[in-house]
Amino acid sequence: MLDSPLPLRSGTTLRNRIVKAAMEEQLAGPGQQPDERLERLYRRWGAGGAGLIITGHVMVDRRAVAQPGDIVLDETSDLEPFRRWASAAGAAPVWMQINHPGRLVLRDTGALALAPSAVQVAIGSLSRLYPVPKPMAEQDIRDVIDRFATTARLAREAGFPGVEIHAAHGYLVSQFLSPLVNRRDDEWGGSLRNRARLLLEIVDAVRDRVDPGFGIAVKLNSADFQRGGFAIDDARQVVEWLGDSVDFVELSGGNIESLISPEQTADHSTLAREAYLIDLAGRLVDRAAVPLMLTGGVRRREAAERVIERGFALVGAATALAQQPEAPRRWLAGDDAPVEPPCSMIRSKPIRAAAVQAAITGRLQSMGDGRDTPPRAPTVALLLDRYRRSRHLSRYRRDHVG
Ligand SMILES: Cc1cc2nc3c(=O)[nH]c(=O)nc-3n(C[C@H](O)[C@H](O)[C@H](O)COP(=O)(O)O)c2cc1C
Repeated sequence: MLDSPLPLRSGTTLRNRIVKAAMEEQLAGPGQQPDERLERLYRRWGAGGAGLIITGHVMVDRRAVAQPGDIVLDETSDLEPFRRWASAAGAAPVWMQINHPGRLVLRDTGALALAPSAVQVAIGSLSRLYPVPKPMAEQDIRDVIDRFATTARLAREAGFPGVEIHAAHGYLVSQFLSPLVNRRDDEWGGSLRNRARLLLEIVDAVRDRVDPGFGIAVKLNSADFQRGGFAIDDARQVVEWLGDSVDFVELSGGNIESLISPEQTADHSTLAREAYLIDLAGRLVDRAAVPLMLTGGVRRREAAERVIERGFALVGAATALAQQPEAPRRWLAGDDAPVEPPCSMIRSKPIRAAAVQAAITGRLQSMGDGRDTPPRAPTVALLLDRYRRSRHLSRYRRDHVG
């Protein structure tokens, strides 16, 4: 049941099964550091009742950010603001999601675009927004592994009780997992074992750098939903290789090229509207040695319960908890408390997805500013987002691009 505690491998026990899933807040202050806006936002989620809160992705390398408002944690960061962020949610544990964007950096940031192979993002005419990435040399790969481990150690020092390694949604680790992006013929490409090597080595490197009581999770796609891409059987195998070396594996799906939504996926499979990955990802539940978490399309108590009844240990919610941070408390109290997500009629799928995402990001920023404005219409939110982003962009370029 949603309110059952869950003991984790690393020794802590989560007080219930509802997790606030990662949402990139784009709220970095100067130096790509957190400031009082993130503290305010996480205080809000701390009071919301989730058993675990996962931060928006934090970059492991300041030269490579997905968005210019992203937080970075590396050797040059001041840990004080991270300490305040880690404790902002009070008793609720906050795990930091750590990520490297790989080829998913926008050209205008001037940031470093690395990838397993020189394969550019393919989203029609919008592909031009992304550079052709530099194929990584062995040294680049070793450097990235080291950076994930360093960021995890620093997160630990700052008081975060765990990290989640982002291996989903088409960012660097997921690029390595994908045979469409990873065309290497060395030990980092080819077979699934080789494509999963980066993830498995990052997990080992993080484990080596922290104590056994520190939590480690992985966010993995159940499928990329692309023909010839990372698929459910690959996910099953990767979960098996992860074994019990992590506390849990969060299953999600899709990437910028497939953009799954409850409508249709790039490989033309249809998804049910609520908890839309439950049937697909549910196929991994019986054999997994590690607790699984499922995220995607959970907007009310009944859907959250269905995920747990299907055998998942944890249920993640992102959009719903941006709109209604106290939803977990209400769901735990037996209230169905449905949350209606923002929707848009914009025809282009990538632009529509960006507009809906901007509406949610705008909502996070409004809570961070101490206001409580409901999500704006996605088209308006997209315009406001462009404006806010341009301010982050000039600062990022000034401070981090040589
Ligand atoms: C505004 C926004 C930002 C997001 N940022 C991240 C992120 O930083 N890391 C991540 O793993 N997923 C991110 N996601 C994806 C969510 O964690 C989640 O997997 C997805 O939104 C599906 O869940 P939902 O239907 O509950 O929103 C983001 C989603 C939204 C809406």
